[in-house]
Amino acid sequence: MSDAGGIGLDADIERVIVTEEQIRDKIEELARKIAADYTHVPNVLLVCILKGAVMFMADFSRALGREGQAVELEFIAISSYGQHATSSGVVRILKDLDRDIAGRHVIVVEDIVDSGLTLSWLLKYLASRSAASVEVVALLRKPDAIKVQVPVKYVGFDIPNEFVVGYGLDFGEHYRELPYVGMLKPEVYARV
Ligand code: IMP
Repeated sequence: MSDAGGIGLDADIERVIVTEEQIRDKIEELARKIAADYTHVPNVLLVCILKGAVMFMADFSRALGREGQAVELEFIAISSYGQHATSSGVVRILKDLDRDIAGRHVIVVEDIVDSGLTLSWLLKYLASRSAASVEVVALLRKPDAIKVQVPVKYVGFDIPNEFVVGYGLDFGEHYRELPYVGMLKPEVYARV
């Protein structure tokens, strides 16, 4: 938890919540655990929820590969927050899976679980497509996620109930490229 300081996008960050190094270490740890849990599965199907989980997907899939776990990558895009930092409660498919997932062992790769609304909808959707198994790996989880019954087996970090950006997470499509996760300065919201 430090001041990001710096220039460019860094200058808009009030506080770093998870550092680049913490993310890297956690992904290695998650990959080790998940590879051990899936030794019986020759080819795991990773389903990335676009766009927020794209950085996590890229790093996590390669970490699994280093553990000797073969994976295939799929992407799905569903609407969640839009331009605003509050949940709209509306879930709809913007981009569907390209392939049949029947009989596959699926791991949903999610950036952050907040209300759990997006995930609970997606898990029902994947179940209706007859996957052999579906688990979730989420890099971040907010406190409200505990209240809903969404089975997230693998979690990177429990973070405070604050709106965060970076490592794939955006505010109005900005800040996704930050290599860490942080909170924005209040004046950033005042600018929009
Ligand atoms: P949920 O349906 O409330 O669990 O929200 C999940 C989705 O909302 C995530 O996949 C993110 O895309 C987005 N989201 C939730 N919290 C944040 C945040 O703090 N910053 C940026 N996006 C967020």
